Amino acid sequence: MARPKIALIGAGQIGGTLAHLAAIKELGDVILFDISEGTPQGKALDIAQSGPSEGFDAILKGTNDYADIAGADVCIVTAGVPRKPGMSRDDLLGINLKVMKSVGEGIAKHAPDAFVICITNPLDAMVWALQQFSGLPAHKVVGMAGVLDSARFRHFLSVEFGVSMKDVTAFVLGGHGDTMVPLARYSTVGGIPLPDLVEMGWTSQETLDGIIQRTRDGGAEIVGLLKTGSAFYAPATSAIEMAESYLKDQKRVLPCAAYVEGAFGLDGLYVGVPTVIGAGGIEKVIGIKLSADEQAMFDKSVDAVKGLVAACKTIDPSLV
Ligand code: APR
Repeated sequence: MARPKIALIGAGQIGGTLAHLAAIKELGDVILFDISEGTPQGKALDIAQSGPSEGFDAILKGTNDYADIAGADVCIVTAGVPRKPGMSRDDLLGINLKVMKSVGEGIAKHAPDAFVICITNPLDAMVWALQQFSGLPAHKVVGMAGVLDSARFRHFLSVEFGVSMKDVTAFVLGGHGDTMVPLARYSTVGGIPLPDLVEMGWTSQETLDGIIQRTRDGGAEIVGLLKTGSAFYAPATSAIEMAESYLKDQKRVLPCAAYVEGAFGLDGLYVGVPTVIGAGGIEKVIGIKLSADEQAMFDKSVDAVKGLVAACKTIDPSLV
């Protein structure tokens, strides 16, 4: 059977890391697309030359021509600009919305059957715009945010508790921004929910609150340190986890920015919710029960996403 084809739209920091990970994990052959001439070609060649040492079989090709993504099984979109210190993800909206239009049209023309994972920020609004511009079914267009936000939460928790991060689960809902909702009640160490661990005296509520805030600020902390761009290793790894679940029909339960209609009282909005990803794309949105406090935080996050979507419609009236 032919290898799956993975098209990476955007060959910058995240795009290059995605290509390397996809090759090392032998998820398929990789096409790196970018408008910058030479960048995708150079990265494809460099990564291909890591093959003999690493021992992977994958063909990598860099291109500036959308025709090369033809028939891709998965497209992962990082095209656009990242933020600089002092910028919020929302500051990128105007520039990246235009990029989503050209990317959406390119995918619609050349890879309409692909499972599309958007990483470009501001995430919830960009994945919505990408689905609109591409016209692909909503269950095949999804945003990567919750896996990353949960990974950041899990990392901080594993350090605090001094245990393997394999035994830490975490749940982050809502938009990929300052209003994201890390859910302590649904996050566990060895299956024990975080509020119980506070009661047991393993950590304090104050420490936990600090970790939750650090999770919310996780992207900004890295932007502040790097100064020239934003995080790329963990975002790429998170998207690869989602792509692998689709390609191997793993049916992983992963929080993603998915199109929600019905669940959580929403009537058609992209926002971070727990999902099942399998060969059918987003096969299920899991409508978990929220407490009044959690619902209030989620509603605030939803309002922030709605504000960004409204801003997109003002900038580009072709969006409805
Ligand atoms: N089509 C294709 N590629 C484009 C386009 C376009 N219209 N516009 C810009 N690009 C390319 C750039 O040439 C660059 O190579 O997108 C790439 C972006 O790479 P980086 O600037 O390195 O940004 P990166 O760190 O990879 O982040 C990309 O993901 O997490 C988000 O906020 C982040 O929106 C940003 C995106």
